[in-house]
Amino acid sequence: MYKCRICLNNINPFMSFGSQPIANGFLKEHEFSEEYFFEMETAFCESCNTFQLVTQPSAEKMFHENYAFFSSLSKNMRIHFKMFAEMVMEEYFIDRVDPFVVELGSNDGIMLQNFMNNNFRHLGVEPSSNVGDVARKKGIKTISEFFSLDLAEKIIKESGHADAVICANVMCHIPDMNDIAQGIAKLLTADGVLIFEEPYLGDMLAKTSYDQIYDEHVYIFSAHSVMNAFGRHGLEIIDLLHQETHGGSMRYVLAPKGTHTISPNVEITLRDEKRQGLNSIETFVKFKANCEKSRSNLVGLLKDIKLQGKRVVGYGATSKSTTVLNYCGIGPDLIDFIADTTPIKQNKFTPGCHIPVKSHEDFHANPPEYALLFAWNHATEIFEKETQFSENGGKWIYFVPSVEVK
Ligand code: TYD
Repeated sequence: MYKCRICLNNINPFMSFGSQPIANGFLKEHEFSEEYFFEMETAFCESCNTFQLVTQPSAEKMFHENYAFFSSLSKNMRIHFKMFAEMVMEEYFIDRVDPFVVELGSNDGIMLQNFMNNNFRHLGVEPSSNVGDVARKKGIKTISEFFSLDLAEKIIKESGHADAVICANVMCHIPDMNDIAQGIAKLLTADGVLIFEEPYLGDMLAKTSYDQIYDEHVYIFSAHSVMNAFGRHGLEIIDLLHQETHGGSMRYVLAPKGTHTISPNVEITLRDEKRQGLNSIETFVKFKANCEKSRSNLVGLLKDIKLQGKRVVGYGATSKSTTVLNYCGIGPDLIDFIADTTPIKQNKFTPGCHIPVKSHEDFHANPPEYALLFAWNHATEIFEKETQFSENGGKWIYFVPSVEVK
């Protein structure tokens, strides 16, 4: 029996993804023997509707000076965050004098650079110092600390209250949501807005994209869970905007209760969630069965290909792929290597299953018969670049929303 991280109600895991390593912990061969693993079990709180990991590695194990994820490497994500920033500036900054924006988990500054370019006061809070350094080099004000109620008070003292607190793909990484929500509520001006977007539970269940679940993602949110988690701290949802990024995300807009008009999107989404069963445990029992089916289909397909003497190379050494590889038990016997653009992942091995990570040049130099699309959330951008692979007869393997070869 565990306690819900949000409301402290008793919860029970409905499934285990087995022993999992640090999802972004790409490593060298001499580090294999010291590798850290934890049992990744997931639970759904029937009281506040929060989907969560029941245990998680310490923050220091996941976010550090060698953190391997740099947001700006994807062209489409740069465009997406520019549009996110424009939406904040156009809809929420218009009548404010010298507005101040704080971004939590600002990474290499991919979002804040848009505020800087428009001369808005800004501050990034980014605990991984190596990615924070990239932002600082661009002139984006960034501090390398974990956000907390204490830090919120320090920011207020130094720069005043924030008109907007924003973040993307960060909130689901923060286990102590109550401290964070309290900090944000404190940091905001009386009519400030909190805008964040995260992989959406509705999409994950509809697509069986269980790869969204990994050590860093302690929560996968729905509108119901966000409403309950932030409602406890005086904030309410004023708008909800579904996004295509990260395989289906939701942008949540919140504000202190009673300060803004509530968009009809809120009512519509809450109704849709009830229809999809996002607040019912039976839905998660079905999800478990779907994950098991997806696993046996994928492993069966890879074994067949191997028997035919053909090669498979993974495309994109994503954090998400760590869950898939370790849950399915897929190692270098089934996948030759994974091609990835991130220099600090290359010439290392994937966490847990130890598949070599190489560059895209290696993929192009000796193309395999099959490419397993781990970075499926970037499919459009990838297919634009990889027309040659398909023209030469190469086939793509998908596992979301179902295992398929195209
Ligand atoms: P992403 O799906 O953004 O996130 P996560 O790690 O959270 O699952 O990661 C994309 C990974 O895919 C990243 O390591 C870079 C890599 N990638 C490529 O190798 N080629 C590409 O064309 C793109 C778009 C990404």
